[in-house]
Amino acid sequence: MKTDFLNALNVCGLDFIRIKGKTLIERHKPLDDFTILRNKFGVYSCANRVINTKVTPHVEVEVDHRKSEKFLNFSSQDYLGLAQNEDVKNAVKNIIDEYGIHAASSPILTGRNKLTETLENKLAEKFKAEQCLLYPTGWAACFGVIASLVTELDYIIVDALSHNSLQVACKYSTSHVQKFRHNDLEHLEKLLKKRRESEPNAGIFVIVEGLYSMNSDMPDLKNVLRLVNKYEAILILDVAHDFGAMGQKGLGILETVENENLENVVICGSFSKSFASNGGFVVGQKVIRQQLIVFSPTYTFSNGISPMQSAAALKCFEIIFSKEGDVLRKKLKDNINFAIKEFNKNGFITNGIPSPIVPVHIGADDLARLMSKEIINQRLLANLAEYPGVPKKQAIFRFQLMSNHTQKQISDAVQRMKTAKEDAASTLKEIIEDTQVNVL
Ligand SMILES: Cc1ncc(COP(=O)(O)O)c(C=O)c1O
Repeated sequence: MKTDFLNALNVCGLDFIRIKGKTLIERHKPLDDFTILRNKFGVYSCANRVINTKVTPHVEVEVDHRKSEKFLNFSSQDYLGLAQNEDVKNAVKNIIDEYGIHAASSPILTGRNKLTETLENKLAEKFKAEQCLLYPTGWAACFGVIASLVTELDYIIVDALSHNSLQVACKYSTSHVQKFRHNDLEHLEKLLKKRRESEPNAGIFVIVEGLYSMNSDMPDLKNVLRLVNKYEAILILDVAHDFGAMGQKGLGILETVENENLENVVICGSFSKSFASNGGFVVGQKVIRQQLIVFSPTYTFSNGISPMQSAAALKCFEIIFSKEGDVLRKKLKDNINFAIKEFNKNGFITNGIPSPIVPVHIGADDLARLMSKEIINQRLLANLAEYPGVPKKQAIFRFQLMSNHTQKQISDAVQRMKTAKEDAASTLKEIIEDTQVNVL
């Protein structure tokens, strides 16, 4: 029993990546058993919780025996709180009457409509780009842009902490992939220089994000661009987290390069963080449009973004880039700063820069897993990120802030975290002492 508990706290999911055997049972039982074990001890953070209410700072979550209880929610990506905005909801209701609920085709056939086109034009204009293409999800956009623009003859140099959609696309597109150390521009330059010297005429792609969600940090984009131009490379920038929610005007990291030449930059992003919808986009020069349309598997061979999602994103776009958007961003920023201050005041270390994701450092994986159980006892939702999502022994809880959290909810959450940490630490101490006694 004790060994089981220790395994549930310490064995890593990555240990199950090498699948062996011929039958489904042989191949998949080890991971299934491990998941059952973690769930048995309540230390599995991806426990597929069922939410029975709207996504707001308070949500009803199913606990034992299908009973729902009220939880404080810091686990949703709705940074500007627009998922429950009445104007957004009405826009969607009206569009359902006009267009129905389903795009019902790939966008290369009949899956596009007037809304798709309007939203594409607005995004292109906002990014001062020549064109934009919408995808059904952010993942599809980020994967699709790389999968279509990069071929096996090209070279990729990607930030080591880039999102799964970007990394999977790199693997799919070419075997010539190198990772540079996270945000380390010296390393990036070293790799770029070497590659350009050995391949004077090849396509070289640099891939970075606007805001990294595990660390809450941003690249020095101005200098990334300088290097990209110096070595005649092409930059792909994923602005999923910062676009809409950060910056004076909601343009996120792009506000740091407003006067730069973005001719060889392609931007991809998502609606799922600030635009209250599924969906993604790719913006850039006109000349790439046909390449994207014909060669992104996630565009060409996937159903178009639904009219409801386009309508939600379009209304959010209107709000985000209006005075109301400025107010929401200010509220969000105040909440972020308040949360960081509260966590620090109560002995927690927070990583990175102020952003809608506040990573609260815990460290040891066993303590963090036990805390993921204790925060449920505390009726608090926040996401545990453990190895391999973050380096070993650097587990964090990601607190996702929204503009509609109150300061009271934030300080309550910090207190609940404090209790959860104390309770988890004493349970851990007991287990370790017990194990030592047994060994003696
Ligand atoms: C940096 C980044 N890019 C892309 C995506 C995918 O976006 P979506 O969830 O909208 O598919 C995510 C999602 O978390 C992300 O964090």
